[in-house]
Amino acid sequence: MSAKPRYIILLGPPASGKGTQAARLREILGLPHVASGDLFRENLKNETPLGRRAKEYMDRGELVPDDVTIAMVMERLSQPDCAGGALLDGFPRTIAQAQALDRALAERGQQVGAVPYIAVPDDVLVERVSGRRLCRLCGASYHVRFNPPQQPGRCDHDGGKLYQRDDDLPETVRTRLQVYWEQTSPLIDYYRQQGVLVTVNGDQSIDAVTTDLREALGRP
Ligand code: AP5
Ligand code: MG
Ligand code: ZN
Repeated sequence: MSAKPRYIILLGPPASGKGTQAARLREILGLPHVASGDLFRENLKNETPLGRRAKEYMDRGELVPDDVTIAMVMERLSQPDCAGGALLDGFPRTIAQAQALDRALAERGQQVGAVPYIAVPDDVLVERVSGRRLCRLCGASYHVRFNPPQQPGRCDHDGGKLYQRDDDLPETVRTRLQVYWEQTSPLIDYYRQQGVLVTVNGDQSIDAVTTDLREALGRP
């Protein structure tokens, strides 16, 4: 008997800790981390047509159109390492994306297994975004106060230079939060109705959130 494939969606507003927690859970669960924002940023770095198209939306804090986003993520999920499941971060973000994912998984005889919703109040999110720093080489996420690197400005894993994301400017963050509440938060009910939603308090230390996520996923 083989283990059931596991597709897990980390749902939560901008800066709720999806990327931070996914980096830890991928080791614990042995699943690949598929982050739509990271895929867009990779395309941007490689100056692909997709990257150029996505940039105009990302810089404004708006969602990249569904057709482009769905095609990109489905292509990633069709790769062999995702056959046994994946840890999705930042996708789906609209009902249309969620339906496309459900259809694609159903075609393979699979389904979404669990959707941890990382709940964090808006004012906390703004503070997190302003102190966030990312590694140029591996994308690891730090915070100048809450999760500082051992050496200022350098990644703990590979010494890569840390930078601030273009869309982490205060005005853009406000748009991202608004877009989240309008277009993404309906997914909370969508997955609650499917019986797969588990709410986790994201307004605690990074370690405490990991502990709660492990418990929610049955991997304490
Ligand atoms: P994306 O990259 O997905 O950004 P996001 O959803 O806004 O989320 P973030 O990456 O900002 O936050 P996070 O939850 O990963 O938090 P993190 O762990 O870094 O998307 C960017 C853009 O791409 C979108 O705006 C859109 O344009 C486009 N896009 C992407 N996916 C799309 C889709 N499906 N459809 C359409 N468009 C799409 O943590 C944040 C900070 O807080 C860090 O500094 C971290 O160190 C710190 N921190 C984390 N946890 C804690 C804690 N518990 N306590 C204290 N500090 C903490
Ligand atoms: Mg992220
Ligand atoms: Zn790094």
